[in-house]
Amino acid sequence: MNPLYRLYTHKLRRQLAGLPQPQHVAIVMDGNRRWARQAGLDDVRLGHRFGAHHLEQFLAWSARAGVRCVTAWVASADNIKRRDPAEVDYLMQLAETVLAKHVRRDHRWRLHVAGQLDLLPDSTARALKEAVEATRDRHDAGDLTIAIGYSGRLEVVDAVRGVLDEAAASGRELSEVAAELTEEDISRHLYVPGLPDPDLVIRTSGELRMSDFLLWQATRSDIEFCDLNWPAFREIDLLRALRTYGQRVLERSS
Ligand code: IPE
Ligand code: MG
Repeated sequence: MNPLYRLYTHKLRRQLAGLPQPQHVAIVMDGNRRWARQAGLDDVRLGHRFGAHHLEQFLAWSARAGVRCVTAWVASADNIKRRDPAEVDYLMQLAETVLAKHVRRDHRWRLHVAGQLDLLPDSTARALKEAVEATRDRHDAGDLTIAIGYSGRLEVVDAVRGVLDEAAASGRELSEVAAELTEEDISRHLYVPGLPDPDLVIRTSGELRMSDFLLWQATRSDIEFCDLNWPAFREIDLLRALRTYGQRVLERSS
């Protein structure tokens, strides 16, 4: 590592020590194909390969910075439905061979999956479910949620469906369910219930949109937009985002 970079990383870590920290960071890993094109790669799918390995590094930085909970958006429901099937296949392969494998080896994380798993190839859904099972008993680990085949609106629709199914199974009247419905009822039926809401959402690649990510959970989150494409996002960019978050929280509370 470049000595100046190392020095700056230490300085940022020191600054963070006195600041409020997010418990849960969500990351929109955008810009893989633009990164590949800028790097002169002929096959833009290689951007996804670098991007998947980059998430492993991001997880290590997050763990080191004390972040207990990470949600990473690997692919939206729309990505899976609309992109070239060869690109989608490649992404799904990476989810199986890089992400699912990595989490099984990296004992710092317990895996959760958020999204419509029936949109995924069977082998991908299976590999992810097996990784969730394999990491389930890591009680001291942090919580990593992979959002794949994910849409925030569909998550809310699925949660409402869950509320109604539960009510139907217990024979309750619809009018009673409607009258008594609470935020907690919806929250309990999200894809990964029980997690704290994200305190901070980071989106890379300069896009200034939320794009249907964590619609329900991120209503009160701080958002940090970063111009770098995902594979170019560095540890110092994470630490800076954490510093900005900590400073904002302090300002709000003063
Ligand atoms: C993010 O990179 C990964 C996915 C959405 C699957 P993109 O594939 O969106 O890359 P850009 O934004 O086109 O550069
Ligand atoms: Mg994109």
